Amino acid sequence: MRLGVNIDHVATLRQARYRTTPGLHTVEPSLVDAVRAAELGGADSITIHLRADRRHIQDADLPQVQQTLRTRLNLELGNTPEIVAIALMLRPKDVCLVPESRDEVTTEGGLDVNGQQAMLAETVARLRDAGIRVSMFIDPDADQIEASRAIGADAVELHTGAFANATGRDQTTALQRIIDSAEHAHRLGLIVNAGHGLNYQNVHCMHEVPHLDELNIGHSIISRSIFAGLENAVREMKQMLLDVPRGS
Ligand code: PXP
Repeated sequence: MRLGVNIDHVATLRQARYRTTPGLHTVEPSLVDAVRAAELGGADSITIHLRADRRHIQDADLPQVQQTLRTRLNLELGNTPEIVAIALMLRPKDVCLVPESRDEVTTEGGLDVNGQQAMLAETVARLRDAGIRVSMFIDPDADQIEASRAIGADAVELHTGAFANATGRDQTTALQRIIDSAEHAHRLGLIVNAGHGLNYQNVHCMHEVPHLDELNIGHSIISRSIFAGLENAVREMKQMLLDVPRGS
């Protein structure tokens, strides 16, 4: 299981202070330093989300991050013409299509691939023609997996938010849905990734999910980095992905 580290929150912190003065010489924290630290800690890819409202990642960050990277860039984006055009220019290794609404604090729920197949198929084809691997961020649901396959996606990222928010039996049920979905997606030839709400307490459960290629984790790693430093926070998470817990 590989680790993709989402560094959007580093930009969130920067924007909290410097949104109106981006050129100031005192601007911090540096996204470029975040990329370096995450990679030193063992990140296998760096994930950023260019949102239409530019609340954290800015256009100017994209080339800087891409030029600093030694691993892979996974660019998350909503399916809008402006943002898709930027992705086509940037040509990251991976794109993950996500739902996006202005009022949400972070990405809520998965993308309804099944309900917008025609529109999404066109975007997937354009991105793939540019040599980009395309993933769909979807709820762990058979219809969404089949629709992702039907429109030509290379991968799915299974939304683990419901699992992360649940407790007790509900969490077991949510985990089983992810396991079944991973099996299903793999059978259809899709690469299987997962993410959202994963943290140092619950990530060990992902060892029960078959065929997982990569986990994308942001909030929890950046939170821990306040106390441990980003490189250490990433290293600790990476170790949890490598260590298969006893009894599983
Ligand atoms: N995967 C996707 C597609 C996301 O949109 C996000 C949140 O930006 C994540 C993973 C990471 O979620 P979290 O910040 O809860 O770890």
